Amino acid sequence: MKPRTTGSLTIDAFDARAVDIDTVGLEQLYTLSIGVGWPHRPEDWQFLRDMGHGIVVHDEIGRVLGSAMWFPHGTEFATVGMVITSPRLQTRGTAQWLMKRVLSACRGRDLRLNATRAARKLYLSLGFRTERTVFQRQGEARRSGEMPRPYERAELRRLDERDLPAVAELDAQAFGAWRLTLLAALLPQSVGFGLYRNGRLAAFALCRPFGRGHVVGPLVASNDEDAIIVIAPHIAAHEGEFLRVDTHIAEGEFSSFLARSGLAFFDTVTTMSLGGDFRDPNTRYGMQPVTFALASQALG
Ligand SMILES: CC(C)(COP(=O)(O)OP(=O)(O)OC[C@H]1O[C@@H](n2cnc3c(N)ncnc32)[C@H](O)[C@@H]1OP(=O)(O)O)[C@@H](O)C(=O)NCCC(=O)NCCS
Repeated sequence: MKPRTTGSLTIDAFDARAVDIDTVGLEQLYTLSIGVGWPHRPEDWQFLRDMGHGIVVHDEIGRVLGSAMWFPHGTEFATVGMVITSPRLQTRGTAQWLMKRVLSACRGRDLRLNATRAARKLYLSLGFRTERTVFQRQGEARRSGEMPRPYERAELRRLDERDLPAVAELDAQAFGAWRLTLLAALLPQSVGFGLYRNGRLAAFALCRPFGRGHVVGPLVASNDEDAIIVIAPHIAAHEGEFLRVDTHIAEGEFSSFLARSGLAFFDTVTTMSLGGDFRDPNTRYGMQPVTFALASQALG
């Protein structure tokens, strides 16, 4: 397919062109993200392309030098992610140029993203405001004693496609936007556990292959106890293997449980938003469902 050129920019001594992300090879995207130390596999890029839109910058001989993506959820909201500039081109305005194009494609939508330290200044200059810290936790999973059991009249079970409406409803209450398309795509490639209480889904956790191993997310629950009940079987299933969780929550029983399960603090990013209200994920002691683990940094 002939790449569709959507603009051009003169960077240093050569011309770079922006094209639709679907027109370049997965291997090129993989090379770009590996170049900045990100763990995404070609399959992870493919999934992101299936779920959203994006642009890449390439040079005259087709080398991909930068990327930016956005993932619409419903008609009024999107997450932004996979903003990368290849190291030899950094600090020359490429990411800012890409982001301006993303903002124009997303006009009218509230936006949320998870910013690395290197990117925070860029997003602040574009009007994003800082919301919360995301803690990337990962390591070799280990069982930490007894498997927590649900209380009476609660049932923990494997999720299948029949649970999708309940999963999407609970996720929307926690996340603040309806993500049915994303969840419908995540469910078949994930193992999911749901905690049902009096016939209603009270908490769930999905876990899928990603990067260096597996990632747990999204995980939605209304309190730490329920969050632990739905994540514990994933930790047991991946004992001795690489497991990752991206969470806003750094204290309390859930956080201690992750520490006992081998998932150490690895890095942090900052959730930022442009427009709209952000649901505070720290208000987790009431009845309100909360996102305990993100689907991914790009997808929120
Ligand atoms: C973050 C990243 C995308 C920035 O790309 P870039 O092309 O260098 O960014 P730009 O040249 O457009 O710079 C945008 C702003 O950020 C600033 N900036 C760029 N790199 C920076 C760094 N390492 N530390 C602090 N500020 C930085 C620039 O000075 C510029 O600020 P200004 O507008 O006030 O002049 C790039 O460094 C990168 O790919 N890093 C690794 C992957 C990553 O962290 N991606 C962000 C995901 S949220």
